[in-house]
Amino acid sequence: MNIAVFASGRGSNLQALIDAQNAGELAGGRIVLVLSDNPEAPALEKARAAGIETFLLPAGPGMTRHRSDNVAVEQLAERGVELVVLAGYMRLLSDEFVDRYKGRVINIHPSLLPAFKGLHGIRDAYEHGVKITGVTVHFVDRKLDNGPVIAQKAVPVLQEDTIQSLEERIHKAEHSIYPEVIRFYVEGRITVRGRKVTVKND
Ligand code: GRF
Repeated sequence: MNIAVFASGRGSNLQALIDAQNAGELAGGRIVLVLSDNPEAPALEKARAAGIETFLLPAGPGMTRHRSDNVAVEQLAERGVELVVLAGYMRLLSDEFVDRYKGRVINIHPSLLPAFKGLHGIRDAYEHGVKITGVTVHFVDRKLDNGPVIAQKAVPVLQEDTIQSLEERIHKAEHSIYPEVIRFYVEGRITVRGRKVTVKND
């Protein structure tokens, strides 16, 4: 199954997926393309270092989300991409894109959704003073951080935590849960009915 990863930043989740692929842990999943809206994204470097093709999405004045997503669709279609994985992609996808790839776009978010949606999931949870936060892997729908939840992992907030130490543990949880979910998807073990997602066990 050909996979495309969209990433705007550091790319640590992309790296976890690449490592899983190299270790044979993505089943028949293969990352064939990494797309970014940010020419400076370290994620692009990580992809190149792994020998994965990259594509810089057009941005700037006059380039609407709709037009940029159309360019993405062309790239995905050319490579027979069946699964789109968002890994720190900072742009919202257009409704048309989400509808076209319904059930085939997955995102990871650093909180236990529906709590702490948005750009600062870790910081917002920390500042709110919650005792448990975590990570969520979910299908993408038209609304931000809203689609059906596939998997979640809780991360306790420790009394001695700083925002940095909490961030580190959240990212560690992300790097273990994301490749696992992608493998389940590739293996055809995930089904969605409305908001309910079931994952078939071995
Ligand atoms: C991760 O925390 C992810 O949950 C969020 O964006 C961050 C991306 O980090 N959507 P990285 O670029 O994968 O290191």
